[in-house]
Parts: sequence; structure tokens; C-alpha cells
Amino acid sequence: MNLTPEEEAILNGEEGETRQQLMEILIGVGTVFGADEMVPIRSAQVSGASYKTIGEWGLKWLQNLQAKASVPAVLNPVGMDRIRWQEMGIDPEFARKQLEVISSYEALGIRLECTCTPYYLYITEYGDHLAWSESSAVSYANSVIGARTNREGGPSALAAAIIGKTPKYGLHLVENRKPQLHINVRSEPENPDASWYGALGFLAGKISGNRIPIFSGIRPARDQLKNLGAAMAATGAVALYHVEDITPEARIFTYDYSGLEEIVIEAGDIADLFTGEIPDAVAIGCPHCSPEEIEHLAGLLDGCTVKRPVYIFASRDVINRTPELVRKIERSGARVYADTCMVVSPSLEKYSRIMVNSGKALAYVPTMCGAKATIGTTKSCIDAACTP
Ligand code: F3S
Repeated sequence: MNLTPEEEAILNGEEGETRQQLMEILIGVGTVFGADEMVPIRSAQVSGASYKTIGEWGLKWLQNLQAKASVPAVLNPVGMDRIRWQEMGIDPEFARKQLEVISSYEALGIRLECTCTPYYLYITEYGDHLAWSESSAVSYANSVIGARTNREGGPSALAAAIIGKTPKYGLHLVENRKPQLHINVRSEPENPDASWYGALGFLAGKISGNRIPIFSGIRPARDQLKNLGAAMAATGAVALYHVEDITPEARIFTYDYSGLEEIVIEAGDIADLFTGEIPDAVAIGCPHCSPEEIEHLAGLLDGCTVKRPVYIFASRDVINRTPELVRKIERSGARVYADTCMVVSPSLEKYSRIMVNSGKALAYVPTMCGAKATIGTTKSCIDAACTP
């Protein structure tokens, strides 16, 4: 890789052992993937934040690092709400270790936000280079915003946060962002709920694998694109997709995809996923809710008392921006938690049937929570929770 004199100095240890070690990680990744150079990033999002995942060894490694992030950076969701963990039924010993992990990241200058929706916190614009870890956030940044990030591992995202740069390869290069598969959807219903796009993504991810699809026949809005991309990143390894006339690069480059393999998905294939089974619990917010989704939920729960546990997940920042709506939601008995989610928190493992409005949660709840997952619209999730 071609390094600037400043990068050479870091690599030679002139700025301390930690920065040297982290630069070595970045150069190692860049060399493996054939990067020619490093590129400055606007923000980072770091996975490997759950004590359950990184364990004692990971915690010790973090505690030995001595440096500060040089760009805005947040963590991925952890195993519990940092403040309301007791209410979630989290084991105190796990909580103690989890809080130590979070403090270690804080000492490194990582913001104490644990979220898979960093795009609600930081201004992220078309063409920005990023180093984000969480697959749904990576998909949203690349596809919906037109920013550029590979799917980083925890150490490489942390290294990028501290150095402020990432190796320029993969999706940082325009030539690697063209569609490779055409998914023709027949026929999008009128005003579909975001869950419909989650279910579409659940099917489309399996078909796409790690290819970049371009969709025709759909007109999703932002939260619907969020659900679509998150599901494709879960059932496949899709880090970037395009939607004809909707997503920024499809509008700018007007791709000719006539020569690509074409897959047809019928509305009936999507409808088959909505089975309407009665759950033990409802979980919403995968990816974490936007302010608009919180508002929608507050409207649906107005005047209702939930008969089954309802877990809603959002970033602390979004929760703090919508205090009245959150109070309204919680008056129904539903709970709005920050920093965590239905998949990474052990608190939902006690249920055997969980209803979700997300294609990604539909894919992950069975393996990560050991529960049967069913998908429904946001309204049918709330109706199921409020029905005796
Ligand atoms: Fe986010 Fe957890 Fe879903 S990290 S995308 S809410 S599995």
C-alpha cells in the first residue's frame, strides 16, 4: 500500500504503541483486499461491544489500548439497556462486565451510544467514506444514503475510528458498486407497511447471496428501505442494493441492467410469510426505530393496555428526542429500551413465540433467542399484544 509520511510515522510507532498496533490492523486488512491507499472517514461504528461476544480476553485487550478516536464513533448494540438493565432481568455479574466494556470504549473516545442506526445521530452524506460494522447500518449507508463503507469487523472499525482512515477497497470504489442481479417485484401492494419490505428482503437476501441487486417494481420510503436492507444483510450478505428510480446511485447512474440475471418475486411469496400466529411477546425496532416509527407506535398504543410483553428498541438519542411519545408508549405497558435489541439481549430468551415486524428479526430470533419468530405488520403486532 502507498502510505503518506503521516501514516508511515504512525506505523513506525512515532505516535505511540496503540496507534501503531491499530495502523498495522488497517494495513493488514488493506493488503489482504488489495487496497492501494487509505481514505479518510467521516465516522465509525464499532461492533464487538457485547461482553457475551468479546469475553474477558476482548475486555483486557480494550483496557490496554491508549488512544482516542479521531472521528465521531458509536458502538453497536450491547446485551442490555445501560440504565434499565435490572428491569430487563439481566444477571448483575453480566451487567458489571458489560459496563466495564462500555467504559473501556468510552476511554477510547467512542460515544456512549450503542445503536445499529448511527445515521440518525451523525450527518452522513452521499459519497462519504465510513467504517461501519453492523450489517444493516452498512446496507443503509451504502444503499439509502450513497455513502461508502465495507462491512467492518470490530477491531478494524475501532482501528479506523482511532486513526481516522480505512483502507480504500471494495465498496469504497465506485467501480465495485454496480448492480449484479435484477430483482423484479410483482406486484407491490398499495401503501405497504415496512414489514412487507422486511419480508421481501428476507426472500431477496437468500437469492442475492453476496451480489448487489437492483430492484424494480417497488417504491419504498426511507424506513421501508431500512427494513429491506437489514433483512437482505441477514439472510444474505448484501451490503449494497439499488432500487430503480429511488436509491441515490440508481438515480444518478441510471444503470442498464437488461443483461443481468433476472429473478421475479411475486407478492404472494411475500404474503405467505405473514402467518398471523399469536405470540408470547412482541419485539419491534430491528433496526432501531426512527423518530417517525416511535410516533407511529405511540399512536397505535394510545388507549391500549398490552396483554403480552412488548419490547421496543431505539437509540438513546432517538428516545431522548421523543420523550412525550415514549411516555405515551410506556403508559400502555410496552417498554422502550436503548442500547440493545431483541437479538443481542439475553432477556428475550424466555419466550417461545415472538412476533416481529422485521425481516432481519424474523431471520435471527430463532437462532439467537431460541424462539419461533412470526412476522406481522406493525399494527398487527400491536393488535396481537393488546388482544387478551
Ligand atoms: Fe439492530 Fe439488533 Fe436488528 S443490532 S439490526 S436491532 S438485530
